[in-house]
Parts: sequence; C-alpha cells; structure tokens
Amino acid sequence: MDIRFDGRVAVVTGAGSGLGRSHALFFASRGAKVAVNDLGGGVDGSGQSSKAADLVVQEIKAAGGQAIANYDSVADAKGAQNLIDRTLQAFGQVDILVNNAGILRDKTFAKMALADFEKVVAVHFLGSVYVTKAAWPVMQERLYGRVVMTTSAAGLYGNFGQTNYGAAKLAVVGFMNALKLEGQKFNILVNTIAPVAATRMTEGLLPPQALDRLKPDLVTPAVAYLCSEQCRDSGQVIDAGGGYYARTQLMESPGIRFDPSQPVTPEMLAAQWSRITDMSGARGFAAANEEVMQVFQGLGK
Ligand code: NAI
Repeated sequence: MDIRFDGRVAVVTGAGSGLGRSHALFFASRGAKVAVNDLGGGVDGSGQSSKAADLVVQEIKAAGGQAIANYDSVADAKGAQNLIDRTLQAFGQVDILVNNAGILRDKTFAKMALADFEKVVAVHFLGSVYVTKAAWPVMQERLYGRVVMTTSAAGLYGNFGQTNYGAAKLAVVGFMNALKLEGQKFNILVNTIAPVAATRMTEGLLPPQALDRLKPDLVTPAVAYLCSEQCRDSGQVIDAGGGYYARTQLMESPGIRFDPSQPVTPEMLAAQWSRITDMSGARGFAAANEEVMQVFQGLGK
C-alpha cells in the first residue's frame, strides 16, 4: 500500500534547509500541499532571509507540487499563529505539522549566557509549542492530525556543551507525552523523531567519510510514516539516521519495596542501591497514572 498525502496539508517548520527541506520535498512529492516555514537565519539563529524558504518552494513547484513560503520565527507566538493562518488562507486546512526548526548555541554551562539558553529553549521548545497551539484547534475540529516533534540524542542522553539544547530537546518529549493523551479522542497522533543527518548543523561533527550515508532523506521516511493515515502510534520516540530506525523509551527498573508503615533510612537504600538501579526487567509506561499505580501497588490496604 502506497503512503500518499493527496488532499493533505503539511506545515514543516525550518524547512528551508537540512532535514526540514527534505521532509517538505517528500510530502509534496507524495501529493501534499506544503507550507515551507523558515526564518532563513544562521545555525546560531542570527539574521534572517526569505531565500531559504523561497528556494524550497520553487523546487516543489518546479516538480509540479504546491507550496507556500513563510518566513516567521516559530519562537514568536504571533509569527507561529501567522504561519498557520497563512496556511489556512492558502490551503484551507492543516493535517500535518512537523516541528523541526532549530538552532545551536553551544557552550559549557559555566560559560553560557542565560540569553543563549533562553534563545535555544525559545526556538526548539516554545517554537514547537507556539506552532502546535495554533494548529491544534484546526486539527481538533477536523478530527484529524499528525504532529511530529524533533528531539535529539543530546536531549535524550546528554551532550557536553549543550545544556540549553539538551533541555529544550527533551522538553518537546514531555510536551508530546501529555499531548498524545489529549489528542486521542480527536484522532490526532503526536510522535517524536530523533534524527541523525549530515546538515549544516552537524557540519564538522560527523565523520567526513560517512556524510554521503547520513543524508536527511534517510530520516524523512520515518517522519512521513508518523504523519501518514496508516500510522496508528502516538507518543513514540523514533530514532532515524543512516538507514537505522529504532524506538527509544523511558524505562523504570522493577525496584524494591520496603514496608511503608515502617521508617526507611538512607542506609537501607544504600544497602540496596544496586537492586534499585538494576534495569533488568525494566518497563515503560503509556501514561503517568500507570507509573503512579506502581507506587500504589505496594501500599497494601
Ligand atoms: P539546519 O540548520 O539545516 O535546519 C534548521 C532550519 O531551521 C534552518 O533552515 C533554520 O533557518 C530554521 N530555523 C531556525 N530558527 C528558526 C525559527 N526561529 N523559525 C523558523 N525557522 C527557524 O539543521 P538540521 O540538522 O536540518 O536540523 C533540523 C532539526 O533536527 C533541528 O530541530 C535539530 O535540532 C534537529 N536535529 C538534527 C540532528 C542532525 O543530526 N542534523 C540531530 C538531532 C536533532
């Protein structure tokens, strides 16, 4: 069965280069009308230009597709609303939203100015919130939606010099975790991609001999599947890059239980630390209440 997007409208943020460009071109090639958003600034978020988004729109049109360009910053709530308003004016609906726009301002935490922390959080995290906030009522009303967030191994696991980026990237996963529940009855699926690809953002960071095997178009099929009618999953974090596709999940160890009617001391925990932190038999949870039930189960009466 072919995965197609005929009759669908996709909004891709940061679609003027790298991964976003690849996603936008792919959606258009499979029949979607696409809103190509890009501020057109540098990797650090400085400057702006209409060129990046315009070139992608030209490319889509040259191939016979339909697209509009938008140059708003996703980090501005009014700009995010304008992106969705312009998409609605042009195409009448929004079915798919890929929150992809991003910047880097790396420094060790000790040396990082708070302004650089805030800017990175504003683009990656609040940018995803603002655009989703504007698109959400449209999707709710139409009882259809596919939203994809973009996280990073730097957020899921940590990367030296990226406290701002890592925090912002894991924040979108927390955002998804609640949103997947709220989207359920409206047929809105919310998932997250954790990509690895050779783009201007990763220039000089990836092994040069592997660059031609780390093309953004090896990440895009995972985004496309998550945005398809065929997808049934919500709340997944999918790793994609270099032909590798996998799922990441937070897991909790089986843990240990003491009698809750008796005092527990830190010494008792120290004696059991290796068992508490042993991840053999660990499990994940579909929602917070499932995890809280783990606690309740040990309470006896
Ligand atoms: P990129 O720098 O090629 O693309 C990011 C795009 O976002 C740029 O075109 C930029 O102009 C745009 N942008 C930045 N701030 C914006 C704003 N405020 N409003 C609208 N557009 C804005 O980088 P790449 O690699 O394609 O990154 C795409 C996403 O994937 C980012 O969220 C990044 O953090 C994430 N990512 C990328 C990885 C990789 O290996 N390339 C690894 C993990 C995550």
